[in-house]
Amino acid sequence: MNNFSKIQMGVDYYPEHWDPSLWEQDAIQMKEVGVKIVRVGEFAWSRFEPEEGQFNFEWLDRAIHLFHRQGIQIVIGTPTHTPPRWLTEKCPDILPIQANGHTYHAGVRGHRCFNSVSLHSYGSRIIEKLTLHYKDHPAIIGWQTDNEFSLVYCHCESCNEQFRVWLQAKYGTLEQLNQEWGTVVWSGEYNDWSQVTTPFGGSPHQNPSYQLDFYRFQSACVEQYQQTQIEIIRRNCPEHFITHNFHSYPQKLDLYPLGEQLDVAAFDYYPNTSPDKTSTGPYSGALSLDVTRGIKRRNFWIMEQLSGPPGGWGPMWRTPYPGFIRAYIWQTIARGADTVVQFRWRSATMGAEQFWHGLIDHSNVPGRRFEEFSQVCTEVNTLSRLLEGSIVRNDVAILHSHDQLVALDIQPQVEGLDYYENIKQWHRALTKLGIGTDVINWTENLSGYKLIIAPSLYLMDSTVATSLEAFAAAGGTLIITHRSGVKNLNNVCLMEPFPGMLSHCAGVQVSEYDPIANSLHHIITADEQTYSSTQWCDILHPTTAEVVASYHDDFYAGKAAITVNSFGKGKVYYLGTHPEENYMKSLLHQLAVAHDIPHFPDLPEGVQISVRMRDSQAFFFLLNLSRESRSIVLDHPYKSVLYDGLTHEGTLTLEPYGVDICTIELY
Ligand code: GAL
Ligand code: ZN
Repeated sequence: MNNFSKIQMGVDYYPEHWDPSLWEQDAIQMKEVGVKIVRVGEFAWSRFEPEEGQFNFEWLDRAIHLFHRQGIQIVIGTPTHTPPRWLTEKCPDILPIQANGHTYHAGVRGHRCFNSVSLHSYGSRIIEKLTLHYKDHPAIIGWQTDNEFSLVYCHCESCNEQFRVWLQAKYGTLEQLNQEWGTVVWSGEYNDWSQVTTPFGGSPHQNPSYQLDFYRFQSACVEQYQQTQIEIIRRNCPEHFITHNFHSYPQKLDLYPLGEQLDVAAFDYYPNTSPDKTSTGPYSGALSLDVTRGIKRRNFWIMEQLSGPPGGWGPMWRTPYPGFIRAYIWQTIARGADTVVQFRWRSATMGAEQFWHGLIDHSNVPGRRFEEFSQVCTEVNTLSRLLEGSIVRNDVAILHSHDQLVALDIQPQVEGLDYYENIKQWHRALTKLGIGTDVINWTENLSGYKLIIAPSLYLMDSTVATSLEAFAAAGGTLIITHRSGVKNLNNVCLMEPFPGMLSHCAGVQVSEYDPIANSLHHIITADEQTYSSTQWCDILHPTTAEVVASYHDDFYAGKAAITVNSFGKGKVYYLGTHPEENYMKSLLHQLAVAHDIPHFPDLPEGVQISVRMRDSQAFFFLLNLSRESRSIVLDHPYKSVLYDGLTHEGTLTLEPYGVDICTIELY
């Protein structure tokens, strides 16, 4: 069934938004520019089922027929993100209830509670009908579940009931729940299951164990809900792949269990067009793509990609600078996207998203952005064969954990310490060094990596601790940081010195800490370099570790701030404080050299390099994600597969938002 690994371009199209007389010319124009994929249907429930039990797929049949005639393949989104009016009127249990008791009304989208019995029955029925109708259509290749899942924070009866069921399955008895959550504090003990409810309000400082479980429960509801859709699609369309379009990280929704149910993960990518964001935007974008690749640890799709100035949900952003659309499409492919689908073919003339621009403006006159898109389509189609089957393979991984993200959000530790922002900084330092990085779930198997960075493992899990120890013992280098080993998985503090289960392999214990927030402190390395640090200072007591850097300020001046311990065949670094990016870069550079990890230390600001491998053939994607032209000095001869196919030597200059794809004779 692996029909999702072609390197190709697509567009999101809403036939229901356009006069049918436009469909055919749109399809012809798509074919002309080289579009291979169209996604349709994800919000069209009111057209698929205009009245209860009256199904109408005739309009989509006609549209799909026109695409098919142009050789374009189709992905259909299940329409459950937008239950129609007749349904929410008939079955108000579909509408989520907010914590204050108010209903979240229809009219936009996302107005559906995942635990609503009516959503399950009507949602399953429309998906059943759709999949049976399209199962044999030669143009259809895959399905997208719903649209951009996120947590709904619903407090309806059914959610309350399901929350209790979920907790009963987890804890068995109420006594156990009381004990694990520590409800004895402030007389919070429950005497009866009926007292356990979703968080209706009151103080925001509710019991942290309870809050964490509520988030986990909500994620589990989305998972269960997606599973009902997947069962229907798999039963009726076993030849089609299934994906979901994830969006806007960090997400409190746990991406990984949802990803497990899918064949391929997808991401909706809207890189920031503002010139003020050029020093951060391209890097957090790179992280989003690496997070998406990590969902299934394989290549992915982009299901929506920026095509024009975004707006409609607020004032408009800047229009994408010349070259921006193209460079960011290549950035996604460079980091493992196979198919890239642009949002959207043409800007909507009606509805709330009129100003979230598509490739073509309201005028329907193709302009500069469309030209650029058509150039990328040609390039992608030319290289598609060559790149197909190539994958991203890295020596370095950052561990990412929804449990940590949520727990650290429930109880912010100190101003300035943000779990995902810290991951961003590590990732940015790596990207600036041209070091390819995977971002994977913290519970993943670590074999094959040389370097693992695991920021703030605040909730400690013995299986993960054992796997990290084993990784280091076998010769890996592990970097762990402050706020590790603080709590158990139920968000209860542990009575042992930090970093708890990782103390042994790190050869260090925290004797005291100082949450310094944004106040600038300094550390001095063994070779007398000074770097600033913020957020946190663990005062370290090395047991077997060596001191790498000491504090310069405060009553702990001279005490260890960063240590390294030899453990088995490997090494474990412990960072008690959050150093400036230059320190991260210097440490990572040193480790890359020591462990023979491919890197490019002199990349200019905004330039990214990433590599896709096919067997032993490496394709280097060189991207200038800035508004100025940039030059890269390459030590080895390179051959441009994007342009002339000739071998060059020396400096490679990239115009603003310039791109090249090269094979480099490295080894
Ligand atoms: C995504 C969504 C699309 C469209 C786009 C632009 O979040 O899936 O339907 O709304 O953003 O706002
Ligand atoms: Zn609900």
